[in-house]
Amino acid sequence: MSVKIGNIDLGAFPLLLAPMEDVSDPPFRFVCKQNGVDMMYTEFISSEGLIRDAAKSRQKLDIFEYERPIGIQIFGSEIDHMRQAAEISSMANPDLIDINYGCPVKNVACKGAGASLLQDIDKMVKMTAAVVNATHLPVTVKTRLGWDDNTKNVYEVAERLQDVGIKALTIHGRTRSQMYKGSADWSLIREIKRNPRIQIPIFGNGDIDSPEKAANWRLEYEVDGIMIGRAAIGYPWIFREVKHFFETGTHLEGPTLEERIDVCRTHLQKSIEWKGPKTGIFEMRRHYANYFKGIANFKEYRMKLVSLESVEAIEDVLNDIRNKFDVELV
Ligand SMILES: Cc1cc2nc3c(=O)[nH]c(=O)nc-3n(C[C@H](O)[C@H](O)[C@H](O)COP(=O)(O)O)c2cc1C
Repeated sequence: MSVKIGNIDLGAFPLLLAPMEDVSDPPFRFVCKQNGVDMMYTEFISSEGLIRDAAKSRQKLDIFEYERPIGIQIFGSEIDHMRQAAEISSMANPDLIDINYGCPVKNVACKGAGASLLQDIDKMVKMTAAVVNATHLPVTVKTRLGWDDNTKNVYEVAERLQDVGIKALTIHGRTRSQMYKGSADWSLIREIKRNPRIQIPIFGNGDIDSPEKAANWRLEYEVDGIMIGRAAIGYPWIFREVKHFFETGTHLEGPTLEERIDVCRTHLQKSIEWKGPKTGIFEMRRHYANYFKGIANFKEYRMKLVSLESVEAIEDVLNDIRNKFDVELV
């Protein structure tokens, strides 16, 4: 049985790339797509920014044909601004619009957006209905278990948001007050899956970092698909590895050094293509350490990669890495 969001067919058990600010931009999404991800989202985009026509927000609307299916994620605190943001985002022609009700960081959640809507479900329902009515596209939601330990209200949230027309729900198994601390608890996600009223796909999110965990939690929590965030940073191979494990019960070999270098280079090239050389090279700096994690004595190379300013010089360092560490990495 295929999982469907509206008319979008995601196959039997989709793996989703989590929306991540400053990470899940088109260059990063390109390398995830190459490695088997089934569905992706943009970074979250401020509704206020979109309405003001802020360049940074507008740029995040850039999506490419090969990325489909892809969702644009929006956030905000004002219902009417979210309605307008949904209209603007729909014109960028994504496959769906996702609403962020999960962001815990102060300058989002304390300004009435993101996870703060978990404290006012009536407003969340109205906001969601306004977004659903503003677009012809399917609308999905990403949220957390609740605001804090005493108010884990996502069960009610799931029912009420389904009632106003969302087509899928992703739940990060933490509360807002947990931020990213402690471990994710998916047991409430399973309760929602078992609620006979719930018909829409429910995706589990939080702490999936290996094929075994994905397989175990898939079984244990009965979700329709899994969304992966941090484990994909510098390791887009996680998607193909999880899929291989699902299909065969065996582990796919980890990427060779050659593959790491190739994917890193592709990421850099895409970054330059999309952002221009200066910003492309600068913003790629945060990714190198992740691509080459686990290599002993790598510091010298990392220092060069994060300080060089020309693509030719960076390419030279990548070639040096190939020559120096000519070993397979697991
Ligand atoms: C750097 C970073 C940026 C994030 N930005 C967003 C965002 O823009 N929108 C969103 O819904 N969640 C965002 N998240 C949360 C992730 O989508 C995800 O819910 C969280 O990381 C838990 O999943 P994981 O354990 O697989 O990483 C972000 C997380 C990280 C680490």
